[in-house]
Order: sequence, then structure tokens, then C-alpha cells
Amino acid sequence: METIDFIHRFEKGRSQERALLLLHGTGGDENDLVPLARMIAPTASLLSPRGKVLENGMPRFFRRLAEGVFDEDDVRRRANQLADFVSNARARYGIASPIALGYSNGANIAAAMLLLRPSELAGAILLRAMPPLTHSEPVKLDGVPVLIVSGARDPIVAPEAAAKLASLLERYGATVEYRVLPVGHELSQADVTLAQSWLNKEASNS
Ligand code: MLT
Repeated sequence: METIDFIHRFEKGRSQERALLLLHGTGGDENDLVPLARMIAPTASLLSPRGKVLENGMPRFFRRLAEGVFDEDDVRRRANQLADFVSNARARYGIASPIALGYSNGANIAAAMLLLRPSELAGAILLRAMPPLTHSEPVKLDGVPVLIVSGARDPIVAPEAAAKLASLLERYGATVEYRVLPVGHELSQADVTLAQSWLNKEASNS
């Protein structure tokens, strides 16, 4: 018997081939990224879980010890749980392997999935991400498309950290596009435009 043990929202899209896995930031929930996802991929199916860790009542996808300092055992455990959820949800809803669309903490758990369970994702859009693990085993990400977008003035996730993540994923074979916008940690219209054109380009390549 399959278990779908994340609170989540699912929206069936008109497109058979495209699904997005929406991963919110700290304090968000399964509804947060739906408007963004609809802007960048109007016909995709959307699978949007709520993070199960609570930090002062705010949902997250894994525990942290301080801002930017992660409980890495928890990162590993939660990334695997989320990957199991995605696999079960795909069977239940009949959707394609999703592209993750993650913001902040959600982008970091998506990066952890790429490093630990790469076969569950068809690609990833990582907005304000940083490396989720200090050490990880090499994985085969041959050609997995990844867009990483950071903010030049982000006080929470320095662009250098995102650049490090970009190099790591590239070293494992991912096709990474890394962009820095003149913004902070918050999302901007420029993020939407970049994500939209990256996704359209991916659709025409596949
Ligand atoms: C994290 O905890 O994943 C990052 O520090 C980003 C955040 O959620 O503030």
C-alpha cells in the first residue's frame, strides 16, 4: 500500500509531459509557489508538498542549527523521504518525473534530492539556493538541466554559495545555467522571466 505522507496540493495540468514539484521557503506552505508555477508553466501538473519540519511554527523541509548551518543527517533523511513521496505521488497521479521549482529552503532540499536521489527529478529551478551538504558522494547527473538564480544583494544566501552549488552539480554532469540578479533574497519579476524562458528552452530541447 503506497503512502502519501506529506500534506500536499496536486493540480492536474493539461500537459501530459510536464510536471513541476513545488518546494516552498521557510514559513511557506503548499500554496505559496502555485501562482509562480502557473506563470512559468501554465499547462504543467503541479505537485506541491508542505515541509514537515516546524521551526517556531514555520514549515521547512529540513532542520537547521542556525541560519545557513544545516543538520545534515536531517537533510539526508528528509531528502530521501521527499524522494519517496515524489515516487509514490507519480504512481498515484500518473505524472511525469517532475522538474523541481524550489525557493530558498525548498531550493536547498531540491539540491539535496539531486545529490542523493537524482533519478526522481527531471531537472530543477533553484531560486536562492546554496549547497545543502558539506560532503556528498559523486552522483551521475548526466545532462540533467538545472537553473540556479541568486540575488547579488541576498543577505541570507550569498551568490558565492550558489556558485559553489552550480560548480558541484556541473562536476557531476548536470547542465547548469547560473544567473545572478540585482536583487535580494525575495523573488522578483526577473526570476519569473528567467525561469519561464529556461523552461521553454528545455521544452523545445526535449
Ligand atoms: C535554509 O535554511 O534552507 C536557508 O538558510 C534558507 C532559508 O530557508 O532561510
